Amino acid sequence: MLPVAELHMHIEGSLEAELVVALARRNGVDLPTFDPVELKARYRFTDLQSFLDIYYANLAVMKTEEDFYDLGTAYLTRAAASGVRRAEMFFDLQTHTQNGVPQEAVFAGFTAAIADARTATGISADLILCFLRHLGGEAATQTLREAMPFRDRFIGVGLDSSELGFPPSLFTEAFGIAGSEGLHRVAHAGEEGGPDYVWEALDLLAVERIDHGNRAMEDPELVARLRDEQVPLTVCPLSNIALKTAPPELADHLLPAMLAEGLLVSINSDDPAYFGGYVNDNFAAITNELALGPEQLGTLAENSFTSSFLPEAEKQALR
Ligand code: HPA
Ligand code: ZN
Repeated sequence: MLPVAELHMHIEGSLEAELVVALARRNGVDLPTFDPVELKARYRFTDLQSFLDIYYANLAVMKTEEDFYDLGTAYLTRAAASGVRRAEMFFDLQTHTQNGVPQEAVFAGFTAAIADARTATGISADLILCFLRHLGGEAATQTLREAMPFRDRFIGVGLDSSELGFPPSLFTEAFGIAGSEGLHRVAHAGEEGGPDYVWEALDLLAVERIDHGNRAMEDPELVARLRDEQVPLTVCPLSNIALKTAPPELADHLLPAMLAEGLLVSINSDDPAYFGGYVNDNFAAITNELALGPEQLGTLAENSFTSSFLPEAEKQALR
């Protein structure tokens, strides 16, 4: 596995079924089944929402700082062992505060996991606070204002959860505040929503990266802009297959076409515990199923560092 930066993964999406069960027992939370194999057998998705329903339900087991530490440590240890040198991890703060967890516990657990993983493995990692689209724009603004005491614990903001019906235009206020705070800005767009969501994310939210962006390929003018401005697209092949946001066969994925267009694409796992694997598994799958040579695989790995928010000197040290 080539060294890579992973730029599109939801830390909560690395919650393996075994850890769901262990945390449920530790915290006295009920589950539909305490057998991880049975729990995992329920992971059959028809679209983004059918995944999100299960993902949010499982997150009811996360209660204490220790839980967040354990989740972060599990991902970072595994990622470091499989070639990830840098991780920019999304976290869904609102999910946890809605579940009654104080934000202090979320920040403390993840921050400690990042520090300890760096000491143990050398991996560099930071957090990106994602707003949940389905809770709306005012909730996003309020969440960001309330998180300001922890401003130094995250490097940027993102936008995730149910895409259709929740366009980027609803979140201009929160992203405006994030910009004035010097935070980086990214957004999921063009996963289920059309090219118009990508245009809005660029024009109204001033994002520096588009998460997914596959549907941008439907709009030649947009493709030209993404190429000219070298806007990073964080593509997640196994996620696209699992959520049916790409053709059913990986062999028909748009990734080679995106590379041929000169787009700055990278490979990412999105929610590795749910979609069939980590970033190395995504690389293995595209290597097997798509006609990509060593040069293109090298470009994808290189693009991941180019697209990261690390200062240039630190990037060079990791490549
Ligand atoms: N897409 C959108 N929102 C999400 C995802 C995803 O794959 N995972 C967690 N929140
Ligand atoms: Zn995602």
